[in-house]
Amino acid sequence: MAKKLFIKTYGCQMNVYDSARMAELLAPLGYAPTEDAGEADMVILNTCHIREKASDKVFSELGRLRADRRERGAENVIVAVAGCVAQAEGAEIIRRAPDVDIVLGPQTYHRLPEMVARATRARDAKTRFSRVTSEGMPRGAGLLDTEFPAESKFDFLPVTQDSPVSAFLAIQEGCDKFCTFCVVPYTRGAEFSRPVARIVDEARALVAAGAREITLLGQNVNAYHGEAPNGAAGGSTWPLARLIRELADRVPDLARIRYTTSHPRDMDDDLIAAHGDVPQLMPFLHLPVQSGSDRVLETMNRQHGVDLYRRIVDRLRAARPDLAFSSDFIVGFPGETAQDFEATMTLVREIEFAMAYSFKYSPRPGTPAAMMESPVPEAEQDARLQELQALLNAQQQAFNRAALGRVLPVLLEKPGRRDGQLVGKTPHAQAVHIEASPGQIGAVVEARITDLGRFSLRGDIETPPAQRAPRAMEACA
Ligand code: 5AD
Ligand code: SF4
Repeated sequence: MAKKLFIKTYGCQMNVYDSARMAELLAPLGYAPTEDAGEADMVILNTCHIREKASDKVFSELGRLRADRRERGAENVIVAVAGCVAQAEGAEIIRRAPDVDIVLGPQTYHRLPEMVARATRARDAKTRFSRVTSEGMPRGAGLLDTEFPAESKFDFLPVTQDSPVSAFLAIQEGCDKFCTFCVVPYTRGAEFSRPVARIVDEARALVAAGAREITLLGQNVNAYHGEAPNGAAGGSTWPLARLIRELADRVPDLARIRYTTSHPRDMDDDLIAAHGDVPQLMPFLHLPVQSGSDRVLETMNRQHGVDLYRRIVDRLRAARPDLAFSSDFIVGFPGETAQDFEATMTLVREIEFAMAYSFKYSPRPGTPAAMMESPVPEAEQDARLQELQALLNAQQQAFNRAALGRVLPVLLEKPGRRDGQLVGKTPHAQAVHIEASPGQIGAVVEARITDLGRFSLRGDIETPPAQRAPRAMEACA
């Protein structure tokens, strides 16, 4: 019988991507995914360190899992902690949670099968000889691997056999920008771009396995500069725009391309132009600005001011008038005054975002901002966050309302919650619920938007006029 693997994923889309790859790596060892931790033979917590209380969350989840294992007498369950908390606090995790078998970082998860084999042997031996923690659980193997190895994990990942209609493809990882608030350059390491040929091969494999939309992923994805294909003209590395054009030209049946997350500094001319002339590139761009105050952007070391952001948005809108934007914001950064915050509100009013994520600043140990003076009092942070979110929510609602009554191309992705219903996505990445048959999954249909839900739209497939039955016949039936 297949063993069951439960993965709990925290944080960003890169973590979602990594979790899927870990599941694929463990399939040959007989592990099949489960959504139910209560029946798992192995549990992986794929963690995020970007904001507050990351490690607290991990330790409390480990406690819950421990209680569950004790209750069901499942002492041989293998427990692994992966992701950015593992990278940052691996040794501490092994010390504080002695029943954890494996701790591995984002750059070493290709070694997971070997570590699981070692952990299984160690755990079997320890259960037999009953070496236990103070809570009576068998001790874990305590294997720690948080290196930044010379080999790239991407060279060791299996070819995808089965893909969702909307798939992620990691093309770049790590970051050299060192924004003063951010842990990514420390947990994910230096910037690294995968070679173009590998990415094109992987995109073809994803499409062959069922993908129609690919989101190119990277922490700083538009800093991409991957090795050019053998014999290609025009430089030894290619920027993101060139890669997008290659995918659009060379991967038939790839209907939609997206990319995330971008940095304003790296929006070059060709990438802006690609938004105007690559039809597969969807008109929705996540372009974090973080703050609308030049002074704050400077102390954040963002390497761009508000004007550059405005100019880029204008140029992108000139290239593709229906382009919609989303962004990330941090409020209450050290030293942020009421005036700085007002500048953020002004920028938001000016740009009009289709959606956005906003956060209270959270000091991350080891980052320069954690040592900065003039913290903003928590109550003030809360008030600013509320005010900003109210504005962003209103803009998101207005953006969705504008879709009402319109006919939009919707890529049908997966079954909805109700029978007979599918969930798809508009070009602007809005989720749409539509009555349609499972056989239509993977198709792009024209749908009229009929209703707005809290988190999604509802629509009806629009029958093209040529296919409509003549009126007289309709009357007969
Ligand atoms: N505090 C609050 N938000 C943060 N982010 C990154 N680091 C922090 C932090 N220390 C936010 C930024 C980034 C998003 C992924 O998370 O807005 O763009
Ligand atoms: Fe973090 Fe800044 Fe790099 Fe984004 S660009 S990952 S916020 S350091």
